[in-house]
Amino acid sequence: MNLISERIISGQNIELLDLGCGTGRFSIPIANRLGYHVTGADNSEEMLLKARKKDGAKRVNWDMQDATLLSYPDASFDAIFMSHLLHHVDNPSDIVEECYRVLRPGGTILNRYGSMEDIRGDPEHKFFPETIEFDEVRTPTRKQVEELFRKAGFNNVSSKVLVEQPYPSPEVRLRGAELKFTSVLTLINQSAFEKGLENFRKYISNNPNDQWLLEDKITFTSGKK
Ligand SMILES: C[S@@+](CC[C@H](N)C(=O)[O-])C[C@H]1O[C@@H](n2cnc3c(N)ncnc32)[C@H](O)[C@@H]1O
Repeated sequence: MNLISERIISGQNIELLDLGCGTGRFSIPIANRLGYHVTGADNSEEMLLKARKKDGAKRVNWDMQDATLLSYPDASFDAIFMSHLLHHVDNPSDIVEECYRVLRPGGTILNRYGSMEDIRGDPEHKFFPETIEFDEVRTPTRKQVEELFRKAGFNNVSSKVLVEQPYPSPEVRLRGAELKFTSVLTLINQSAFEKGLENFRKYISNNPNDQWLLEDKITFTSGKK
């Protein structure tokens, strides 16, 4: 939240679009804690349904949208935030160009993601090495994201890497893998998946206090229109 408020122009009545908002993991705290007018947009009705249920304060405007072809008029928002979205589409530049169009002059784009150079070393890719070939095709590096932003017309493009600790224990991370929470785990074959889980479990029982099992390196790339 601190980084989001740091990067986004300050002022009253800021209109922020959370693109590919999923179940509102960010849209809801951005609206409640930072006080922006937030639109959470996603192309999955199922995700939006869950988001609406979580949004007790009802501060977010939930909207069904395809991020590659937004229905908003030009210059509709002061800021666009997106998290783990670009690797879901064949041409991420379609999304970034739409962001440029719907942002007001001076507006900010902020992308939160695991860049290819960082995710390569995380537990999901180490224990399930078959995921690498899929992610190498769809997951951009930091430099590629920065290039996409500049090509679409954004200025002041820069990235910051944070180490986040989203997992309270290694077992919670393992449970996420078992449920294929990381979408690339749905792409590998069943025997690779089972072998990976076995290695993951063994590693946890031999190294229960390894901090690597709890952390993710996350990049925030921002730019100004
Ligand atoms: C990995 S989830 C991230 C959700 C949320 N931003 C977060 O970080 O918790 C990716 C989300 O992007 C959505 N998505 C994928 N392609 C999309 C598209 N073309 N337009 C809008 N949303 C899309 C999915 O439905 C999903 O909710």
